[in-house]
Amino acid sequence: MIDATALNPLAADPARRQMLPYGRQSVDEDDIAAVVEVLRSDWLTTGPKVTEFEQAFAHLTGVREAVAVNNGTAALHAAMYAIGIGPGDEVLVPAMTFAASANCVVYQGGIPVFVDVDPDTLLIDPVQVQVNITPRTKAIIVVDYAGQPCDYDRLRAIADRHDLWLVADACHALGGSYKGRPVGSLADLSTFSLHPVKPITSGEGGMVTTDDPDLAQRMRVFRNHGITSDHRQRDQQGSWFYEMVDLGYNYRLTDFQCALGLSQLRKLSGWVARRREIARRYDAAFASMTAVQPLVVRPDVVHAYHLYMVRVHEPDSEMSRDEVFAALRAAGIGVNVHYIPVHLHPFYRERFGTGTGLCPTAEAAYGQLITLPVFPAMSDADVDAVVAGVHTAVSRIRMEQL
Ligand SMILES: Cc1ncc(COP(=O)(O)O)c(C=O)c1O
Repeated sequence: MIDATALNPLAADPARRQMLPYGRQSVDEDDIAAVVEVLRSDWLTTGPKVTEFEQAFAHLTGVREAVAVNNGTAALHAAMYAIGIGPGDEVLVPAMTFAASANCVVYQGGIPVFVDVDPDTLLIDPVQVQVNITPRTKAIIVVDYAGQPCDYDRLRAIADRHDLWLVADACHALGGSYKGRPVGSLADLSTFSLHPVKPITSGEGGMVTTDDPDLAQRMRVFRNHGITSDHRQRDQQGSWFYEMVDLGYNYRLTDFQCALGLSQLRKLSGWVARRREIARRYDAAFASMTAVQPLVVRPDVVHAYHLYMVRVHEPDSEMSRDEVFAALRAAGIGVNVHYIPVHLHPFYRERFGTGTGLCPTAEAAYGQLITLPVFPAMSDADVDAVVAGVHTAVSRIRMEQL
């Protein structure tokens, strides 16, 4: 059990706490010491900590290779580059996700094809995947939404049958597993974000995991301008010579960020356990509230609970998500909404002609979803305060409607 107040001084002093956030990093003295050690060393970027972090990450996720980049969006872009997505290629993407899951396809000139989600879990619906495959489809990006791994056996079977790449946007799900296999090892390429609200953080940061050394090598070149060697390698070889073999980007992650990520990685399993404890406490509390329905979790997964989401919905009632949301924010509970379905954003409507009606399940869910706070340093008292806040908000709105 984690000492919440040691990780989050705000938890110890409610008077200083303005708003309980929906997610928050935990940074302790070990993390700070690890960063300071690198700041005192010779290499601030692309030094030994990058390799150390990549190896530890690959070990934890049960794969041969991990490639560190400077954020989760760059990880997705590198994945699209590695599998050769180019102009006119179609890539299936779930509608219920953060925009970056689809933007990475557009960066490469490809066409994101939005796929509806399962009504219970809001994970990509394998039946809808099948329906949307065309001769131009090259890959399926699946998203472990909220931290719950997708149904990988079914998705892998579809990908293999149609000779498609399977890419996991696992930005929410580090530390989770599917049928005993760790997230990170479930697709051809899996991408992670190390943003502060995510399961572990390096400030900003990203990672791609794969069992394919050729894909990993392509991504290492891609993150470094398309140049085949980095400056540490040249330094060690006593050479200045380098060649740019393709158009790449500067997507490198610094050594001090990798030191932070490495230090955080050691605490991941305890943090996921705490997130799951919080989720169980919420589940138990909401079981008796008819207007508040947690998303369904399949029995064959370990859900990493980056987010804890509920639908607010009462048949035969006018109670709206927006009213409940406003009441909770007014009560100091930093609720959020994940997500506006990507195909409804103006950019996608204008560029790709998408719009309302394309993915009805995701659209209907969007109108009901609220993300409640969950992060490892939350105390049980914080969780109980959220539950009480939800109960009060729902009861008050119900009374006002009578
Ligand atoms: C599902 C998903 N994919 C990709 C990203 C992008 O990650 P980053 O913010 O590190 O670029 C995020 C971040 O919020 C995300 O939630």
